[in-house]
Amino acid sequence: MSKSSPKEKKYRWVKIFSSEEEMKNSLPYLKTSSISAFGKKVCLVHGTDGFYAVRDKCPHNGFPLSGGYCNKDNTIVCPIHRYHFDLKTGKALSGMATKVETFVIKVFSDGVFLGEEEFNWWPF
Ligand code: FES
Repeated sequence: MSKSSPKEKKYRWVKIFSSEEEMKNSLPYLKTSSISAFGKKVCLVHGTDGFYAVRDKCPHNGFPLSGGYCNKDNTIVCPIHRYHFDLKTGKALSGMATKVETFVIKVFSDGVFLGEEEFNWWPF
């Protein structure tokens, strides 16, 4: 029987880099990159205080956010209509979109992993 709290978030993980050093070398400061994970395109961003991952699909019209740019305030700007999104929360800070999906990046002893929150659709 599981003793985890029902409010505890659970993630499924996929390895994206073999080490933190490889991640830093592959993704320069304030640059973006696109990878495939969990059947989606994911935009990786090297922000001012760490690395972030958001869905590489603008919630406004679906264009890849990885073609945009990262500001020093840890926002990503869509290349098409220039809407801004907070990289920590995914919240839209301008424009008519609401939120872009966010992912978690964690460094473990065997590499850097991308985490997608699992949803429990059945409350029983
Ligand atoms: S498609 Fe991204 S802001 Fe319009």
